[in-house]
Amino acid sequence: MKFKLMYLMLAALLMAGTPAMADSQEEMMNQFIDQLMAKMTVEEKIGQLNLMPAQTITTGAEKDSPLLKLAAEGKLGAILNMKGYKDILEAQEMAVKKSRLGIPLLMGLDVIHGYETIFPIPLAQSCSWDLEAIEQGARIAAKEATADGICWAFSPMVDIALDARWGRIAEGNGEDPWLGSRIAEAMVRGLQGNFGKENMMACVKHYALYGAAEAGRDYNTVDMSHVRMYNQFFPPYEAAAKAGAGSFMSSFNVVDCVPATANEWLLTDVLRKQWQWNGFVTTDYGSIGEIIKHGLGDLQQASAMSLKAGTDMDMCAEGFINTLAQSLKEGKVTMLDIDTACRRVLEAKYKLGLFDDPYRFLDPRRRASDILTPAHRQAARDMAAKTFVLLKNDGKLLPLKKQGKIALIGPMADSRINLSGTWAPTAVPDKYITLKEAMEQALKGKAELNCAQGCNFTNDQTLQIAGGFYHQTPFGDAAKLKQEAIAIAQEADVIVCAMGEEAEMSGECSSRASLEIFDAQKELLEELLKLGKPIVLLIFAGRPTVMTWEQAHIPAILNVWFGGSEAGDAICDIIFGDKVPSGKLTVSMPQTTGQEPLYYNQLPTGRPVGEGMDSFAKFSSNYLDVRNDPLYPFGYGLSYTTFNYSDISLNGRTASVTVTNTGDYEGDEIVQLYIHDVAASISRPVKELKGFQRIHLKKGESQEVKFEITDDLLKFYNAHLDYVLEPGDFEVMIGPDSSLKNMKKTVLTIK
Ligand code: BGC
Repeated sequence: MKFKLMYLMLAALLMAGTPAMADSQEEMMNQFIDQLMAKMTVEEKIGQLNLMPAQTITTGAEKDSPLLKLAAEGKLGAILNMKGYKDILEAQEMAVKKSRLGIPLLMGLDVIHGYETIFPIPLAQSCSWDLEAIEQGARIAAKEATADGICWAFSPMVDIALDARWGRIAEGNGEDPWLGSRIAEAMVRGLQGNFGKENMMACVKHYALYGAAEAGRDYNTVDMSHVRMYNQFFPPYEAAAKAGAGSFMSSFNVVDCVPATANEWLLTDVLRKQWQWNGFVTTDYGSIGEIIKHGLGDLQQASAMSLKAGTDMDMCAEGFINTLAQSLKEGKVTMLDIDTACRRVLEAKYKLGLFDDPYRFLDPRRRASDILTPAHRQAARDMAAKTFVLLKNDGKLLPLKKQGKIALIGPMADSRINLSGTWAPTAVPDKYITLKEAMEQALKGKAELNCAQGCNFTNDQTLQIAGGFYHQTPFGDAAKLKQEAIAIAQEADVIVCAMGEEAEMSGECSSRASLEIFDAQKELLEELLKLGKPIVLLIFAGRPTVMTWEQAHIPAILNVWFGGSEAGDAICDIIFGDKVPSGKLTVSMPQTTGQEPLYYNQLPTGRPVGEGMDSFAKFSSNYLDVRNDPLYPFGYGLSYTTFNYSDISLNGRTASVTVTNTGDYEGDEIVQLYIHDVAASISRPVKELKGFQRIHLKKGESQEVKFEITDDLLKFYNAHLDYVLEPGDFEVMIGPDSSLKNMKKTVLTIK
């Protein structure tokens, strides 16, 4: 360990104690890196900026891997996509023992919603509105990943997404910038902690505006005003930066017609200068190469532009490693540009403690003790139950009694490979139980369960294959599948339908132009309805699903997203009433796909139609064939119990309501605060979430819920991009969701 001695001497110096601990720590780091960089050649510095994928060594031929050779030659700063203690150890040893200066590698991976214990997809987690649970989920993911050699997570994904056609809406936290910001902070805290052995470095992505792809088509172009960027899309990135995230990932798209990766305004002026952030920026997968396709020059030009703009690490394009030395000779980049990027990458390694101990995350004992533990699984199960959103529950059909004959029907009923949802590359599905297996356990000795797949995901085999991606669900004989389902349904007292998308029908490159339930499933639902039995519909999806017909015909609908490794048990917890649903939507659910992009915090328009308007209004901003309102609004979600809200009482800047549990169960309610700036120097959204509280009430119990309306909640970026509070009237709204009809209102006047 070439660095250990020097590092320890510096650490001892620190222990000797100066009052300004943080400053002196930084000074020590700077000294250490100065000394190291003084020994580095230009090639070695550029090598630190090179991030390469590991498929070659995960498939076996370790010794011949170009990665290992690059590591030994000091031409590699980091690896992504490597899973497995043995391979990671070997690669790290190569860098540490064989390269001239022995600089350790960063090991990065998409640890998005768990490692082997899989938590619900991020969109689902956001519907829990439980920041502590989200932080804990990230902490557990980090604990598991670091027990297996990974120290850098390509997470959190904090892109605001307003268009449910975009498949990657599954990976983010919904449509609201304020909630998205709080979740971004929680994720950074959970992943990074204090950079101990069980923490990893966060990588905030995809900076910036990736979720605003036109028409919801992945990788598509983005264009918007700066005022909108600052007010609606930037807040979660800024919050994550200010929470101390160690790294950022630039996005694939253009911002102001310049690819984010080569956008100096974005990476340097905003991220580093305005937000005072000092971590390192990696590109997304091959982004520098894509700059050529965006039409800004060849690989050398793209690489030089990216470095100068503020990109520090090149993921997989091999632009930096192959062209920067030449660009230096030609004066297209300076030594200072290269040094700056190299220093930032080395700082990240220092903060992670890799210079102290390059094998810090390679403790073989932890692999056995820290991954997929019962405690982790329990946390994932508890979290999953909080993410399900009860959309409809006519006649209190749910919770079901554990008695009689239950038919479980649908392509998700017994699917193991689809449970985890998108972006769970390290999942181990063989160790998870399906919904059917979970229901068998829950009902054992109490009720009879019969299960049938009932239909394919869709009648379109090509679509089912594309949507299956890595995990194919065999395409079955539709008539036979239906017959089996009808047979068990005829005998049943109640039918539970487990339907929706395949896991990979959301996530990267999984845009959809129609959001309705697929034909095959809808046809089966129609057949089942004819039997006249009660039906509970469980919807598995990575995005909002259009359920206008289902809302009209099916008595109970529970949106379960993709709940992760423990989804089966968690669904049982809710549908059999061991737990009471509390999830609330963080995305608006449309009545029809054509309403997208649909979001609650829109600007008013000069020809608005009132919320809840039930007919067409000529020369107003509405459609001929569908009303403007969503089917289910942002913030919406039912419980098995009911809550009553008192009027708001406003005392200075404190707004409070009393919430009473008026139903038959104890349960959690998510009390939401919205604000509308009545008159301002620019048009302001009709309402914006500015606070929430998750409270637990016993039957009949009441609680006063208070919100302090600080200046910060009233400020916005004006036309000059100044962050201002403009005096005047602000409507203050508190309620169980974002729809006006359910809210209590008052006005706060700021002088
Ligand atoms: C995705 C990123 C991901 C990266 C590395 C890219 O295709 O856009 O979200 O972190 O791959 O796997």
